[in-house]
Amino acid sequence: MQIATALAHSNIAFIKYWGNRDDALRLPVNGSISMNLDGLDTVTTVRFDPSLGADRFALDGTWETGEKRERVSAQLDLLRALAGVDTRAKVLSENNFPQGTGIASSASAFSALTLAASSALGLELNEAALSRLARRGSGSASRSIPGGFVEWYLGKAEEDSYAESFAPPDHWDLVDLVAIVSREHKAVGSTGGHPLAPTSPLQQARIADTPRRLDRCRTAIFERDFGTFASVIEQDTLVMHSVMMTSEPSLMYWEPDTLRIMQQVRLWRDEGLPAAFTIDAGPNVHVMTLAPHSAELQARLAALPGVETVRHASAGGPARLLAEHLAPPRSA
Ligand code: PMV
Repeated sequence: MQIATALAHSNIAFIKYWGNRDDALRLPVNGSISMNLDGLDTVTTVRFDPSLGADRFALDGTWETGEKRERVSAQLDLLRALAGVDTRAKVLSENNFPQGTGIASSASAFSALTLAASSALGLELNEAALSRLARRGSGSASRSIPGGFVEWYLGKAEEDSYAESFAPPDHWDLVDLVAIVSREHKAVGSTGGHPLAPTSPLQQARIADTPRRLDRCRTAIFERDFGTFASVIEQDTLVMHSVMMTSEPSLMYWEPDTLRIMQQVRLWRDEGLPAAFTIDAGPNVHVMTLAPHSAELQARLAALPGVETVRHASAGGPARLLAEHLAPPRSA
């Protein structure tokens, strides 16, 4: 019996990935930069079992069929092909954060799945190879393999589009406060959204300017320069959402509460508090701050109308293997 368990953190992008040059291979149109989110984790156990006729997948204690299981199976197929085996697997996965809270679960999920499955199959893959494979399940998952502050390279081909760490988690005491305004499932998720990106007349301009934003963001992180960091991450979010809003069909992820928080964050920054927003494909707002100010800001965010709850995460390490394995749900 071949079994392994892995833990991976979710991540928040500061320079966002939006649009693929190859949807099947998930090769992005631009490079991106992110930070792993400590404590927002997926743990996944993969057990290859010759007696199984099909892959089985349980998420947070419930056996899944349909699209979710197929995406897991497709990812296992990539790893089976590398190992030269055909054995089916039982995959048990648990998130320690609820689904639909605006925290990307596909990044941590496909990163943990890739590491656990490759280890269970005895494949000895280095970090770049794992990141490249995780990318195939979900683009942002490539960034949850390495630790701390991470850059996913655009690359020239399939082989060199992977993510690498450029600073460890303790390099800077950045904190992500995730202000949850809605738990509703988004109508168009990122997999459906990426193919719409080229229909926006603004996407080419976004892509052309990305190397500049990547340089500014990387340098701001290296130099722990919060002012520049705030300015570039907010600009990047607004550029990506401009593309989303102007694609055909148009994607509008913001709610009135989203905009209210964005405006409030800027007012707090004017008062001297380090605070800056970044928003993924949903209405919830990630407010970045520095550790000494996080309790104060968390309390202020929680008191705003429309904010249901605020999650807190600092920079996290790489995906890693665990010694303990998850037990299957009782209905197995
Ligand atoms: O990895 P995906 O396909 O879920 O895309 C992620 C897209 C954004 O979260 C909006 C941006 C990013 O870089 O994480």
